[in-house]
Amino acid sequence: MKKNIITIDGWSSCGKSTLAKQLAKELGYVYIDSGAMYRAITLYFLRNAVDITDKKQVIESLENISMEFAFNEKSQQSEILLNGENVEYLIRDLIVAEKVSDVATIKEVREFAVAQQQKMGKKKGIVMDGRDIGTTVFPKAELKFFMTADIAVRVERRFKEMYEKNPNVSIEEVKNNLEMRDYIDSNREISPLRKAADAIVLDNTNLSMEQQLKFALVTVEKLGK
Ligand code: DC
Repeated sequence: MKKNIITIDGWSSCGKSTLAKQLAKELGYVYIDSGAMYRAITLYFLRNAVDITDKKQVIESLENISMEFAFNEKSQQSEILLNGENVEYLIRDLIVAEKVSDVATIKEVREFAVAQQQKMGKKKGIVMDGRDIGTTVFPKAELKFFMTADIAVRVERRFKEMYEKNPNVSIEEVKNNLEMRDYIDSNREISPLRKAADAIVLDNTNLSMEQQLKFALVTVEKLGK
């Protein structure tokens, strides 16, 4: 079967990675979480107290960052390594979530991440999720989804996920963080979050995970015809 590039963009916490992982598994494709790359860069900046308003510091720091994805047999998913260290779980922390959108507005950071993402898509057969994948990273992708869901539903989903790891987190904190990221991600100058003109909208406010996967698979099938 012909290998394609499938892109999934959309708002924070609307289930992009869940769908992307399932779709990749069903199709035998590689899943790439582009957000994890921005999060890993943010973690590096936080750890090394990089002043993100200082271009020189940012550029020098990027030269010291290497990122790759490795499949973890235990969790059965691909996880991100930052300079060889598995940071898949650390990057989900609220401390990183609070800074990542600002880091992702920086031109040099975006160029650095986009170049690596495009390289990962060279062989096709990938599902990549993020904010600018269908618009900037792979504007010629064979199939593009744009995901959305009601903010209240998104907050609830993300809160449940974060509460399991940290019972001290409040629903207000999660809501504020989602709203702030949505605002910064869709209003930044470079590659803001936008629906690509040829993207298919998937609103999963009232869909189960099974229903959304079915919708996506039917769409993929149509592509093959
Ligand atoms: O998908 P996520 O929530 O893990 O992404 C974290 C942040 O990274 C998000 O708030 C914006 C940024 N991001 C981006 O600017 N472009 C992408 N392709 C993916 C993520």
